[in-house]
Amino acid sequence: MRRPAHALAASTLGIALAALGTGARAADPPAPTWASDVAPILMGHCVGCHRPGQVAPFSLLTYADAAKRSRFLARTTHARVMPPWSPDGPEAAFVDERRLGDDDVATLDRWAAGGAPPGDLSKAPAPPVAGDEGWHLGPPDVVVRMLRPYSVPAGPGDTYHVFPIPFSLAGVPADVTARARIPDTDILAVAAVEIHAGNRRSLHHADVFIDTKGAARKREAAEGGNGYDSFGTPGFVPDAYLGGRVPGMTPRFLPPGIAAGVMPLAGDLALQIHYSATGRVETDQTEVGIYFMRGPVKRIMDTLYLRSFRLDIPAGDSRFVVEDSIVVPADCILMSVFPHMHLIAREVHAGATLPDGTERPLLDISRWSFRWQDKYFYREPFILPKGTRVHCRWVFDNSEANKANPFSPPRDIRFGPNSTDEMCEFQLGLIPVNLGDESLLLDARVRKMREKIAELTPEQRGRFRWSDAFNDLSGR
Ligand code: HEC
Repeated sequence: MRRPAHALAASTLGIALAALGTGARAADPPAPTWASDVAPILMGHCVGCHRPGQVAPFSLLTYADAAKRSRFLARTTHARVMPPWSPDGPEAAFVDERRLGDDDVATLDRWAAGGAPPGDLSKAPAPPVAGDEGWHLGPPDVVVRMLRPYSVPAGPGDTYHVFPIPFSLAGVPADVTARARIPDTDILAVAAVEIHAGNRRSLHHADVFIDTKGAARKREAAEGGNGYDSFGTPGFVPDAYLGGRVPGMTPRFLPPGIAAGVMPLAGDLALQIHYSATGRVETDQTEVGIYFMRGPVKRIMDTLYLRSFRLDIPAGDSRFVVEDSIVVPADCILMSVFPHMHLIAREVHAGATLPDGTERPLLDISRWSFRWQDKYFYREPFILPKGTRVHCRWVFDNSEANKANPFSPPRDIRFGPNSTDEMCEFQLGLIPVNLGDESLLLDARVRKMREKIAELTPEQRGRFRWSDAFNDLSGR
């Protein structure tokens, strides 16, 4: 994994190389300039992240920012490391693809080789106006915050912790809740949730569940702490799942009329957070922003998961392959796919076999990056007819040659909660075509989870403390 220290060293080198380049290329046609050629590329593809307060380690807003790193920018874009975008294909399938065209890559190359000339700075495009730096989706309708700051253990080993948080919609204007209300119910349709990390160093990923039975609060009280540890499940069967965040994910709204989830007028959020151990005690108090639907709700997003817990990856094995599949139980529109794995993962390949035998590729990633995971939304969502089999193949490389391997020499790696353990999941974001088919999806989801939990050894089940959830599911 690259560290900021390398970035610094490499950018210093970049300056030296750029300076050399000036002399060597003197006879070539005039190089592209920052003002007329390079700034439009950086403004369009880079500064969303490379600006103060955003995720990237340095800003690319000004000529000086870009010029001193011109070689570095050329090299990383050439190697397709930046902008970060993992899928190989299907080609042009996804919303907001972060791919740079070959022409743009060549322009950055020639600009660096030509000594990074500024051009006429007065004619440069203005940097795009920054949105709300705090909330990517704008001010939320309601913000639910962890009741107390939590002291994240220093490690070793990561922490999975669940925080029950009673929510109140008292501050939300009545017309907003009225518009989000599903007719004849006390249920509100949620357009999106955005999770605002209280501590970016330690928050690795987070999921938001709804708990109307006080199950999470009971467990917290029984354990006498600020929340409680629980990995994999929130420790009970939640009423609903509202959304989550993983590294590299962009929060977004769904197409008009499509809700991300539902929540009652009162109850608890159960916020489950995976904290990475940083080697010292960290403090976190994360917030969840909730955005309600503003117009009529046509459908609610639903999910099915493919996954495997049979991950016993021997040290040195450079190609460990696991597969899973699921049959779609009702006609559904496939909106999005979301693969999840950890550090030594290499590839993920998913496809659908339709009932008539047609094969349709869903997602191929051959250069998995743990730091850049996203939920990929199809530009043109399509129907998976009832009976479609979705299959997924995950590939891991536990050899010394895998630069992302956290262990040198390699060790046996198994399924587990730490980033240095492994996981494999593939989530389908679906909308049932026919109203009333939601229960078929719920049944398929529960069946799959039960089948998968049965794959765990009793030791693993005990260690992950899934017995409560498992018993709960077995009872269905
Ligand atoms: C979605 C956010 C995002 C976008 C868009 C993005 N970057 Fe980055 N960039 C990052 C982050 C975060 C890092 C730190 C390294 C990492 O996490 O991969 C980074 C690192 C870099 C580095 C240092 C790489 C290294 O080896 O350390 C360069 C150079 C770079 N970006 C250039 C660009 C350029 C040029 C563009 C546009 C063509 C761009 N980035 C677009 C987020 C982004």
